[in-house]
Amino acid sequence: MRKPFIAANWKMHKNVQESVEFVNAIKGKLPDPQKLEVGIAAQAFALPSMKQAADDSGLKIIAQNASAEYSGPYTGEISLRGLADSGVSYVMLGHIERRRLFNEDNDIVNRKVLAALEMGVTPIICTDETMVQKEVNGEIHYVFQQLMSVLRGVSLDQIKKVVVSYEPSWAVGFGQHANPTLAEEGCRQIRRTIADNYTYEIADKIRILYGGSVNPDNIGMIMDKPDVDGVLIGRASLDVDNFLRMINYL
Ligand code: G3P
Repeated sequence: MRKPFIAANWKMHKNVQESVEFVNAIKGKLPDPQKLEVGIAAQAFALPSMKQAADDSGLKIIAQNASAEYSGPYTGEISLRGLADSGVSYVMLGHIERRRLFNEDNDIVNRKVLAALEMGVTPIICTDETMVQKEVNGEIHYVFQQLMSVLRGVSLDQIKKVVVSYEPSWAVGFGQHANPTLAEEGCRQIRRTIADNYTYEIADKIRILYGGSVNPDNIGMIMDKPDVDGVLIGRASLDVDNFLRMINYL
């Protein structure tokens, strides 16, 4: 049974005070953490204060990026060791905006994924790719080359720990309507890609999230899809009431 996961991605919004106020406003109203995991990906400088504010509420604190390097002369980078020390549970890696605006490629995302796994911060591996058809054992499969490239060197043991998110470029940040059928199809094909490259048992346990134009009105339809284990929410997660509506969508 895969535990559903709903996470906010605040991108470059909210200062420390606003971030902490938000955590204080929601922490007493979180759903049962045994049934649903809730997290917030915020700017790096706010993460330690948010972790402190979250206390034992079960709210997961998520970084939006990290360096592939452990420590050293890397001005401006965010170390995974520092994130781990600050109680950060997850780190998003390879988000479409990192790829589009900051030229991150599969190779750098792959190095970050391996470093995160080694430092014990669970990667949320974002993939935005357009599916490519390929014949596998006489059947048509959609193969996520991008995902497999960033998973290079990730062992059978390590893959069990990752979370994958499917954020198609047509749906992120443009105010378009999320399409639950296409969300399901993307997540299903990602699961199949993992099954083809690891095992069916592992693919069956991995959580795959959908991201792109999720809001209080469509979250129920998206979460209802069998291969969608959760969502990453951008714009609609910035408002406390909206976020509370979404984490209590059931
Ligand atoms: O990581 C989630 C995000 O990129 C989606 O953004 O604003 O379309 O919900 P938005």
